[in-house]
This record gives sequence, C-alpha cells and structure tokens, in this order.
Amino acid sequence: MEPRKASQSLTILTDLVLPSETNPLNNLFGGELLARMDRAASIAARRHCRRITVTASVNHVAFNKSIALGSVVTVEAKISRSFNSSMEIFLDVWVEDRESGNRSKANEAIYTFVAVDDSGRPVQVPAVIPETDLEIERFKGALRRKQLSLVLAGKMKPNDATELKALFME
Ligand SMILES: CC(C)(COP(=O)(O)OP(=O)(O)OC[C@H]1O[C@@H](n2cnc3c(N)ncnc32)[C@H](O)[C@@H]1OP(=O)(O)O)[C@@H](O)C(=O)NCCC(=O)NCCS
Repeated sequence: MEPRKASQSLTILTDLVLPSETNPLNNLFGGELLARMDRAASIAARRHCRRITVTASVNHVAFNKSIALGSVVTVEAKISRSFNSSMEIFLDVWVEDRESGNRSKANEAIYTFVAVDDSGRPVQVPAVIPETDLEIERFKGALRRKQLSLVLAGKMKPNDATELKALFME
C-alpha cells in the first residue's frame, strides 16, 4: 500500500454561524462545532484511505474561544498519522474578522477514525508521510495520544502503554 502525504488529506470547510446554531449568549453551540469538525475529519480520513471511515473516538477538544453569531468559521482537517486501520485527524478551527479578513485560531481538536469494509470490519490504511515541521511534530506525538485514548476507553492496560509511560519518565 503506497504511503500518502499528510497534505493530500487536507479538508477545509467554511460556513457561517446561523441563529439556530447558537446558545443564549448568541455564540456557536459546542455540539454544532463538534459536528462540523466530525464532517471535516471524516472527509480527510476518507481522502487518505479511500475507504469507508467511522469516528472511533474524539480524543481532545479545546473550546478556547467562543464564536459569535454571524461569524465565518473555517474548519481545517488533516491526517497526522495512521496505524493499522486507525487514523488520527487534527482539526484547527479559524474565525475570520469581518472587517480585516484576518483569521484567528478559535479551537482545535483531535479525532480518531477507523477505515472499515462494507461489513464494518477494520481494514488496513496507507502510512502517512509528514512533510512540514508541524506535520512531523503531530506525527511524532500520535502514538502516545493513541495509547492514552485506548487506556481511557479501557481497551489498553496502562502498563502496556509504553510510549505514554515514557512521556512521564522524561
Ligand atoms: C471503531 C470500530 C470500527 C473499532 O472496531 P473494533 O472492533 O474495536 O476494532 P479494533 O479493536 O480492531 O480497533 C480498530 C482500530 O481502532 C482503534 N481504536 C478503537 N477504539 C479506539 C479509541 N477509543 N481510541 C483510539 N483508537 C481506537 C484500535 O486501536 C485499532 O487501531 P489500529 O488498527 O490502527 O491498531 C468500532 O468500534 C465501531 O464500528 N464503532 C462505531 C463507529 C461509529 O458508528 N461511529 C459514529 C458514532 S455515532
């Protein structure tokens, strides 16, 4: 299976915040943002492996800044690393200033997707080639994040999470 560049999975979704998507403070609902990120991540995962992909885990979400009604929100999704059937997808969320057009980072998240066959059984995916400094940094940290996610889900014993344990020994 040919490895693929991380950049080949890049997915960019841009959309407005409408009144039906806001909370009583007129800011975007967290759940609406999660759904937008899930969609973008799903497309990025599919672009990497060209298979059916399902969300296995939402590993990390930071709602650092609220996003106001009427904002133009851009969700960027890109694969950071693949393993056997699973793929870690990074999401960066940007908000565009109406007057200047400048973008500022509002939120970020990390999702795990798994490629499956028509019966829902996991299948192998191509390896990832990271190129930029950020892609390489995210690639390097992916194994310990996978182990943390598996430990929290009760699918891995903490003792077996060698990469994760090494982080605490440093
Ligand atoms: C995701 C799913 C396919 C995993 O199936 P499974 O029987 O647990 O298969 P496995 O144990 O072989 O795991 C498959 C891969 O997922 C990874 N994985 C499973 N749970 C994970 C978690 N919580 N965090 C990170 N990775 C996880 C495994 O490590 C494995 O990765 P690898 O093949 O790259 O090593 C299965 O749980 C599923 O179909 N879930 C429902 C998905 C869905 O419907 N999502 C939308 C929810 S509304």
